[in-house]
Amino acid sequence: MPTELTIGEVAARSGVAPSALRFYETEGLISSWRTSGNQRRYERAILRRVAFIQAGHAAGIPLEQIRAALSTLPADRSPKRRDWERLSRGWRDDLDRRIATLQALRNRLTTCIGCGCLSLDTCTLLNPDDEAAALGAGPHYFERDSRRASH
Ligand code: FES
Repeated sequence: MPTELTIGEVAARSGVAPSALRFYETEGLISSWRTSGNQRRYERAILRRVAFIQAGHAAGIPLEQIRAALSTLPADRSPKRRDWERLSRGWRDDLDRRIATLQALRNRLTTCIGCGCLSLDTCTLLNPDDEAAALGAGPHYFERDSRRASH
């Protein structure tokens, strides 16, 4: 295998379109150098870096987080197995948090299905922390709105 690759070779070996590779480069996720004929050339190790980006993308990790993860690695090398283990563990924890948030949203939305009240006081979507309950009995929202109107 050659030590340097054209963009077409990287695309063929990684399964990532040349346009996506150029985008990754524009975003600073990968780098190349130019030949005297102004053609891109990549280190062979770029394939592992592209695979890392694709894996993050497949896991639903935002590009900014993938960039941040790559920035923790030395610029002159691709992610190694232990890097992937460390970074993917962090991403899993983030995914766990996002899943918990989505499950809580789904549960609140489930309460709304078939309800239709859209009440600022009682709707679990509009009032997720049950602010009304925390304020106790009484016309708190009315009083708050009245105070705002008088200022
Ligand atoms: S619409 Fe009634 S609880 Fe949300």
